[in-house]
Amino acid sequence: MLTPLEEIKSKIDVVDYIKQTVKLAPSGKSMKGLCPFHKEKTPSFFVSPERQVWYCFGCQKGGDIFKFIEESEHVDFPEALKILADKAGIQLRYEDPRIQTMRNRAFEILKHAQIFYQQNLSANARVMDYMVSRGMKQETIETFGIGFAPAGWKNIFIHLKTKGFTPQDIEQAGLITRSQRQEQRTEYYDRFRSRVMFPIFDQIDRVVGFSGRILPQEFGGPQDQSQEAKYINTPETLVYQKGKILYGFHKTKQAIKDANAAVLVEGNMDMLMGWQDGIENIVAVSGTGLTEYQLSILKRLCATVVFDFDMDRAGEMATDRSIGLATKKGFIVKILSLPSEKDLADFVRDHPGQAQKLIPDAQDIMAYYVDTAFRQGDATTEDKKRIVAYLLPRLKLLDNPIDQQKWTQTISQKLRVREELLIEELRKTPSLLSEEAETNEPNDKKSSVLFMKSRLDLLAERALGLMIKIPYANKTVFEACSFFPYRFQEFVRLLGSIPEGDLQQGVFPQSLDQESLNYLALRADYELAMLPDNTTPEKELELTLFELKREKVHSSLREITLALKEAEAAKNVERVNELMKQAHTLTSTLAEIENSV
Ligand code: CTP
Ligand code: MN
Repeated sequence: MLTPLEEIKSKIDVVDYIKQTVKLAPSGKSMKGLCPFHKEKTPSFFVSPERQVWYCFGCQKGGDIFKFIEESEHVDFPEALKILADKAGIQLRYEDPRIQTMRNRAFEILKHAQIFYQQNLSANARVMDYMVSRGMKQETIETFGIGFAPAGWKNIFIHLKTKGFTPQDIEQAGLITRSQRQEQRTEYYDRFRSRVMFPIFDQIDRVVGFSGRILPQEFGGPQDQSQEAKYINTPETLVYQKGKILYGFHKTKQAIKDANAAVLVEGNMDMLMGWQDGIENIVAVSGTGLTEYQLSILKRLCATVVFDFDMDRAGEMATDRSIGLATKKGFIVKILSLPSEKDLADFVRDHPGQAQKLIPDAQDIMAYYVDTAFRQGDATTEDKKRIVAYLLPRLKLLDNPIDQQKWTQTISQKLRVREELLIEELRKTPSLLSEEAETNEPNDKKSSVLFMKSRLDLLAERALGLMIKIPYANKTVFEACSFFPYRFQEFVRLLGSIPEGDLQQGVFPQSLDQESLNYLALRADYELAMLPDNTTPEKELELTLFELKREKVHSSLREITLALKEAEAAKNVERVNELMKQAHTLTSTLAEIENSV
């Protein structure tokens, strides 16, 4: 039996699929075209019909057909699986019809409740006064269906019972709870009492839950406000999972798409008041950190997220994590700074008409982090260490090597340390989210090969790519094995032992890891496609190996020079002599290499 995953792969050809949206032309054993994920004029996007994988050598994205859907449709893996399963006519899961019925009943109950609360609001002058005192307009109240749950223990319960719903069903919808006093019969009472009710909608306008706010004392709320939670929310039910909902999204998704950006705030009130003031592309995550799920919903619609999160609060961990997830998902992430201590809702009430104008000034997240890190000083070694320790795990989140490079450059200049040092350090640094990335993202492994590449790495890859196209070249490359970066050496040795000709036939030993081979097979066609007219693969390989050796020796010499400085400062004569000897050997090697052409 094939797994659904294997079945999909056997039914849908990656080349056929990609051809629907990208014009592909044959190139060696692969197909090539202009990359759909970044702007380019010459094709560096390659697809292998034989291996059913794709890779772009320009932006360094790549993977199988699922990865292609994830990238092009902006969905996560489970969603990509669903899309492809539909196409392949494969049923992924089966839902019990009884659950379906229960869910539909919950939707019905919640709709009735929302109308009930809404009717109560207009009948209650003091509550309306409160809304006015917050600066909220009638239009906003109506558009978002805001209501009021009256005081008393059984209002919604009795209302819904007279409509014919059972206590069990009303409880399932999250509107009532039970008191469980022993030896007495079960008592039901309303979960929301004397609260402003914000209905929560799903993407297709169905009420799935409520968020209920306490009234201040002067508008009829309790005397001691600290005795009760400011907000009470629907618990997790069949139809409401808080990690899957973005508050306000049902009304703002089109604007998010049009603006290609979403403004994210932390509270319902902030969302509503921002919307009222003309920020049409706004949504709220209510009281929890942002989830992968919420981000994947947004990813389908926009490239940028602008956070209006309180950065200095104790909740900074959650904020950092939300920002981290968004960055890792490939969003352009920005931070909005309000000109005062107040939150957005109060800002809008006090300065109507101003909120929209703040959006264009939102600061790029890495610029924000760099500013934050340097604000505390960068003079001492301790400062530099602190800055590096703060910034690198954040920089690591960027999935785009070009952006990473831009920032390592900036940071190295500001810190006055060598850029190579930062890159090396970055390579060793786990990302801000690394612990969780390992546990709940099995397909994250795919992107681990996409870290930033040094010049030496690029030369090594080019050499290996060319080698595949040239008979007997694996022996030549094997001779240069010790000049390759360490992580390539095992691979080069294995390839060096393959019988001549096998490589060009596309026959590889089983012991080689598939991911690297997929990459190399595409790389080979890429190298050939990029080859200028006035040269041959053989000449190009020779040149590449020459550059590779030289680069390797140069970089070793740079390391030794640094080590020498340290050893001299420490007055370690023995180590100085040892290093001098190594430097001497390397210098002669360099001379040999340079004389060999
Ligand atoms: N929240 C919650 N439970 C609480 C406090 C807050 O669920 N006890 C959630 C609510 O969804 C709230 C969000 O966290 O909207 C942000 O909290 P906060 O900033 O305190 O509330 P505001 O939205 O600013 O509400 P208000 O301005 O009316 O105080
Ligand atoms: Mn507030």
